[in-house]
Amino acid sequence: MPDGIEDLIRRWDDQQSAYITHREQRFEIMLDVIAHVCETAPGLDPDGSGLTALDLACGPGSLSQRILERFPRARVIGIDYDPVLLTLAGTWLGARYGERFTALDADLAAPGWDAGLPEGAAHVAVSSTALHWLEPAQLVALYATLGELLPLDGVFMDADHLRFDPAAQPLLSALSAADDERTQHAAHSQGVQTWDEWWADAVALPELGGRKAARDRRFADRPPTPHAPLELHLSALRTAGFAETGVIWRHFDDVVVLGRR
Ligand SMILES: C[S@@+](CC[C@H](N)C(=O)[O-])C[C@H]1O[C@@H](n2cnc3c(N)ncnc32)[C@H](O)[C@@H]1O
Repeated sequence: MPDGIEDLIRRWDDQQSAYITHREQRFEIMLDVIAHVCETAPGLDPDGSGLTALDLACGPGSLSQRILERFPRARVIGIDYDPVLLTLAGTWLGARYGERFTALDADLAAPGWDAGLPEGAAHVAVSSTALHWLEPAQLVALYATLGELLPLDGVFMDADHLRFDPAAQPLLSALSAADDERTQHAAHSQGVQTWDEWWADAVALPELGGRKAARDRRFADRPPTPHAPLELHLSALRTAGFAETGVIWRHFDDVVVLGRR
């Protein structure tokens, strides 16, 4: 593996944890749900045999790596549209887990993003800190596709900040903002990198810097995304055919949403 990659991954986790107060706990509960799926679904085993999980907007592979580590026979397909982060994911997870990890280049905001997936591939789909990038209509379309992709009893989980409405929920908004501020201040005052500092280091690596222009081009036309509240996620999942929906974890406005087909 090229020099500097593992260090960059460790620093990605640190910088993300500065924006997400209980990031590891949030991952852990998603892994516990996957463990239940592996123990109970026909054709799957507790070690992850038979399981393929989709990691939607996988970035450098944080959640993919935790799945591959906890379930030693599982496979993960990590999907992302950022050529820098997807290269990073493919490089280190490929080196560590071989063919158990597949990196798939696709724009989750565009219809047909699932065209590159093998037939009947996934039993579980997950996402962390990413779907807020989608406009509400794109989110609804994504959930409709997942409703078709996942088998009956298949599970989808999304971990993300689902912001409160500042006009209707001023106290909840203020409490969430204060918690974000505390977490960022604590991390950054101990020298944890900010998002921008991490990115400057990432694109300074020759293996990644060559992909920066493509990244800039791909994300240049994305408008700021309007607020998609929790209720929208839950109702879009129900409309998409998820029989059971709910919240399995929450810390202020940081939420893990679950849908079962
Ligand atoms: C903050 S990162 C989170 C990465 C990782 N899931 C984690 O928890 O560390 C957000 C990710 O969403 C991806 N993303 C944003 N819009 C996307 C889109 N339309 N299609 C695919 N990936 C997208 C970005 O490229 C980035 O990797």
